[in-house]
Amino acid sequence: MPATVVVGLQWGDEGKGKTTDLLARSVSLVVRYQGGDNAGHTVVVGDEVFKLHLVPSGVLHPHITPVIGSGVVVNPRILLDEIAMLEERGVDTSRVRVSRAAHVIMPYHVELDRAAEARLDNEGIGTTRRGIGPAYADRAWRTGIRMGDLLRPATLRQKLARVLPERNAILHETFGLPAFELDAIQADAVAWGEQLTHRVVDTVGLVQGALANGEHVLLEGAQGTLLDLDHGTYPFVTSSNPTAGGACNGGGVGPRQIGQVIGVMKAYSTRVGSGPFPTELGDEPGRHLLEKGREFGTTTGRRRRCGWFDAATLPYAVAVNSVSSIMLNKLDILSGLPEIKLCTGYRVDGVSATWPLEVDDLERAQPVYETFAGWDADLSGIRRMSELPAAAAAYVDVLEELAGVPIALVSVGPERNQTIVRGPVDGVRELAGALESVAG
Ligand code: GDP
Ligand code: IMO
Ligand code: MG
Repeated sequence: MPATVVVGLQWGDEGKGKTTDLLARSVSLVVRYQGGDNAGHTVVVGDEVFKLHLVPSGVLHPHITPVIGSGVVVNPRILLDEIAMLEERGVDTSRVRVSRAAHVIMPYHVELDRAAEARLDNEGIGTTRRGIGPAYADRAWRTGIRMGDLLRPATLRQKLARVLPERNAILHETFGLPAFELDAIQADAVAWGEQLTHRVVDTVGLVQGALANGEHVLLEGAQGTLLDLDHGTYPFVTSSNPTAGGACNGGGVGPRQIGQVIGVMKAYSTRVGSGPFPTELGDEPGRHLLEKGREFGTTTGRRRRCGWFDAATLPYAVAVNSVSSIMLNKLDILSGLPEIKLCTGYRVDGVSATWPLEVDDLERAQPVYETFAGWDADLSGIRRMSELPAAAAAYVDVLEELAGVPIALVSVGPERNQTIVRGPVDGVRELAGALESVAG
């Protein structure tokens, strides 16, 4: 049985948490493959709302082994808090495992991220200030601390003794901030290791073992394609590869072990933080999307910037992820808008332009819109395409045509069962357990 990747096709917050939780029902392992606690994935089960930052969204299914892969950067304090929160709410976390090769977000990474952003004021990236960039930078610089190091105090001390003076020098000389003490950091890190010791393993062995056994593995991405280090609006991106290729490196599978790639997108666009966003709306439809869509950051509480769906980026996102089918979320949020616009291309300095564009061209890009009729009906109780208002069904058809791959699932509310199986469901048929449960 091959692996399935769940990947965001926009700027994050497409509803990957809902999608992963829904599809996880019939798999045995859910692996987060990149990012860190910059992510905020929401899973709604009945009146319970879970906001997950590090633990994969499959954790709510008792039969699943949730795995944090080597491509993730882990803040152990946040992970321990999240595990405690889940246990307190009655979720069994005993099977949660973390790759020993995953890099650790140390306190100096968080401080460096905050200091760099604060110094740039409004000109920064608008990061989540969780230390993501500095932790990945240390990984690339080969000066990082890995989860496995937390279990070997002597090795850990040696590595910290090498890197800490350099990071302290930047903190002090560039930002005028106090230094971190080696002894205090070492003590904290050893304590994290002691609490996580039984969870820190070779996760590639786990994933490969499951695949060899014929089990289905779901790989959950964080962020989205337009925040990808290679494919996004650099430098206004995150510091890892959310795209499906990242699932190979960060999740421990080979490209030929991936059977399906499920792209997740929502019916409009949002973006948190800085960077170009051609379809951003400052006026009334923007407020509708913000308020009705409750577009406030899961991790930072920041107001998300809202705009029309940017289909100029869609064929690119489908191609670089080799998306096999799409789950379209939040169609219900568009109800009540008199008309709906879709961006199908740009004009830069009066000349037509297509994605990808350099970031300064994208800043000046004027979206070219097609306008569609809106609808009024509340979609949240609808479970079949045939019950959708004709205008809503037509909007989904247009998105599918622009994507060039099937939109197999359409979501009309945050709960698992608020999902329409649209078909053709090629590519998600193996996850039929989940589909049957929503189709009924
Ligand atoms: P993620 O980061 O991609 O997992 O997305 P977030 O959890 O940050 O944001 C998506 C939000 O939309 C969450 O609050 C979800 O509960 C909610 N959501 C997901 N799908 C739908 C939908 O179809 N309709 C509505 N109304 N809310 C949805
Ligand atoms: P999920 O997984 C939306 C954005 C930040 C900032 C940029 C870089 O919930 O979709 P970072 O802290 O990663 O260095 O910030 O990326 N960002 C997200 N935006 N959803 C996310 O995660 C994000 N994670 C990071 O706002 O613009
Ligand atoms: Mg989110």
